Amino acid sequence: MPLTLRYDPLAPDMLENPYPTYAEMREHRPVLWHEGMRSWVLSRYRDCQTVLRDYDLFARDRRRVGEEIPEFRQNLQALDPPAQLPVRSVFVNSLRAQDVAEVGRRTRDRLRVIFERLARQPEFDFMTEVAGPFALVMTAELLGVEPPGLREYTAISDALAQRMDAGLRPEAIGPGDEARKRLNGLVEDWFAAERRPGTFSELLASAKQEQVPDHYLRNTAATTFNASFGTLYATAGNVVLTLLDRPDALDRLRDDPGLLGTAADELIRFDGPAQATSRVATRPVTIGGVDIEAGQTIVTLMAAANRDPREFDRPEELVLDRKPNRHLGFGWGPHACIGLTFGQLGVRELIAAINECPSRLRLAGKPTRRHTATVRTIGDFPVTFTP
Ligand code: HEM
Repeated sequence: MPLTLRYDPLAPDMLENPYPTYAEMREHRPVLWHEGMRSWVLSRYRDCQTVLRDYDLFARDRRRVGEEIPEFRQNLQALDPPAQLPVRSVFVNSLRAQDVAEVGRRTRDRLRVIFERLARQPEFDFMTEVAGPFALVMTAELLGVEPPGLREYTAISDALAQRMDAGLRPEAIGPGDEARKRLNGLVEDWFAAERRPGTFSELLASAKQEQVPDHYLRNTAATTFNASFGTLYATAGNVVLTLLDRPDALDRLRDDPGLLGTAADELIRFDGPAQATSRVATRPVTIGGVDIEAGQTIVTLMAAANRDPREFDRPEELVLDRKPNRHLGFGWGPHACIGLTFGQLGVRELIAAINECPSRLRLAGKPTRRHTATVRTIGDFPVTFTP
């Protein structure tokens, strides 16, 4: 059969459902050259995992291949070990010092109030009314900052998500960099404000001891806020749509809440928000028989890897008790997600809160997808509560 593979991450059919194309890529072009992005795109689990793990050969810090990074973009995500380690450890330790159970309780309480109010409305948009407030409140509580306005922050987050697709849409760079500067401004306000309990107050103390340069600290605080808000927002939509499409799975989680732990990871494997990330080859390397030159960009398609049958049994099925589940939805290696515990917690609390409602959440129309490829997010998501 002739191969008709066409990989255009922003095409409407890809935004709707990229998984059939990912399957074709894994089978027929596991190391695919994308001319528009001028990047190699990897879709097999082992290849993606190797690239994410081997920071010596595959750099995140593009200064290692001679590029420049403006100071306002220098943060944890743009550094590699060993320079990355002090700043990463300050943030990881500050997050570890948080009371996970308390963050969970407060998130659930807030969701209860939101759902009680929405139960009286005939129909509402899940992203605006639930995913947004959920992501904002949880992030602000966790980091210990005054939450910005939801509408204002959603616009910043959207511009930053589009900036991640700059290889496909260079016109997203300007607005994305503007949004980052606005976010950096919010961080200045938070650091100047009276301390609230939470991650940021912990990290100001420990950063001095670790001698982390001030701009890394501030820029990483901004990155962390957005990494938390953006992924929790997108995850809430993706997870709830997956479950509304499979009411039996939602019922099973109500009858057996003990499954929520494995289910949270499985839902992120199945349709997580982080579709891809990128690295740059520091030396010539061969992957899957394809020669890659030093300085070339490599995109790891984690969402394709997460359905690789070489790694997962029944990869196209949602298996709520899947174990082990070494998915790449939180990344892998030295840049793996530092907020994983809270990402998983957020998913568990959200599902538990939906299942606690006396009425049933259902789709009230066809959801749309936002025009972003690196982060997979729902646009409009009409839902309703029915008895
Ligand atoms: C379900 C929710 C989440 C998902 C799916 C997710 C996913 C990811 C992924 C895939 C990466 C790796 C990116 C790469 O290698 O380039 C990452 C990194 C990161 N995440 Fe998360 N994340 C989530 C929640 C959070 C939360 C709640 C926080 C903040 C507390 C957070 C903070 C970060 C930071 C700061 C990094 C950069 C780490 C580094 O570069 O060393 N994430 N996340």
